[in-house]
Amino acid sequence: MSKIFDALRKAERSGRKQGGQGNKRFRSPKKSADMKKDIFLQGLDEDFRRSLLTLRNSVDSEMRDKGSRVIMFTSALPGEGKTTIAVFLARMMAANEMEKILLVDCAVRNPQIHRFFGISNKKGILDYLSGEVKLSDIINTIDEGMLDVVTAGVGRDGNISQSLFRSDRMEAYIGEAAENYDYVLIDTSSILNAPETSILGSRTDGIILVVQAGRTKREVIKRAVMSINKQGGKFIGSVLNRKKYYIPEFIYKRV
Ligand SMILES: Nc1ncnc2c1ncn2[C@@H]1O[C@H](COP(=O)(O)OP(=O)(O)OP(=O)(O)O)[C@@H](O)[C@H]1O
Ligand SMILES: [Mg+2]
Repeated sequence: MSKIFDALRKAERSGRKQGGQGNKRFRSPKKSADMKKDIFLQGLDEDFRRSLLTLRNSVDSEMRDKGSRVIMFTSALPGEGKTTIAVFLARMMAANEMEKILLVDCAVRNPQIHRFFGISNKKGILDYLSGEVKLSDIINTIDEGMLDVVTAGVGRDGNISQSLFRSDRMEAYIGEAAENYDYVLIDTSSILNAPETSILGSRTDGIILVVQAGRTKREVIKRAVMSINKQGGKFIGSVLNRKKYYIPEFIYKRV
């Protein structure tokens, strides 16, 4: 873990005053001008912040006219930085206090989002999909209220079968989320290790592939994109992560 990331998480902890299980329902976006700035983002390394801004602007221009803005983050292989990018982008988007953001942890093979926010992972999307809990029971409102987070949860007997992601319940969930939030960002497991990820991708409005620079081979990336296409997912771009050392650098490309 780099120093940068330790600093980010420290800032996260000191900035989290009202996290936890606050919001119990989907809400319409709030447009409050007097909400406090996200203290968390004040701790961001300047290069990292700039890279996030570039990504954010690219996503905005791609999705601007879309009625539904559900974006899935995935990668070909594990550990390329999906969760890191999805979490920080969500925080940045929420920090402008104009858009209501939902971040959902569908990386059910290695759920991590609850750790970033220091919230419980007892009940999450898997529990909702298994019919164990209500929609309102899985929403965590973070800080000033523009960011809601749904963790992965554990589901019934740890079941993470593809059928859950294919289910009508998942489709209805995504539809409702899209109606109630300006952006829905979904973190997932890497596509070549988790067949449920491609299935989920076909239900989203756009897929961003995170690629760790200098690690993932072109052939492997191609296989991941083919897997997305095969299920009917819409690939909207890629992020080149960790371009050099600890300085995160994002390059957004249309392909
Ligand atoms: N740009 C970056 N600079 C420095 N460290 C990074 C960067 N991006 C990710 N990391 C670190 O790399 C590790 C893997 O990142 P992360 O958990 O986001 O990957 P992932 O693709 O979500 O992994 P998984 O496939 O297991 O879900 C973490 O320790 C994270 O802090
Ligand atoms: Mg992850």
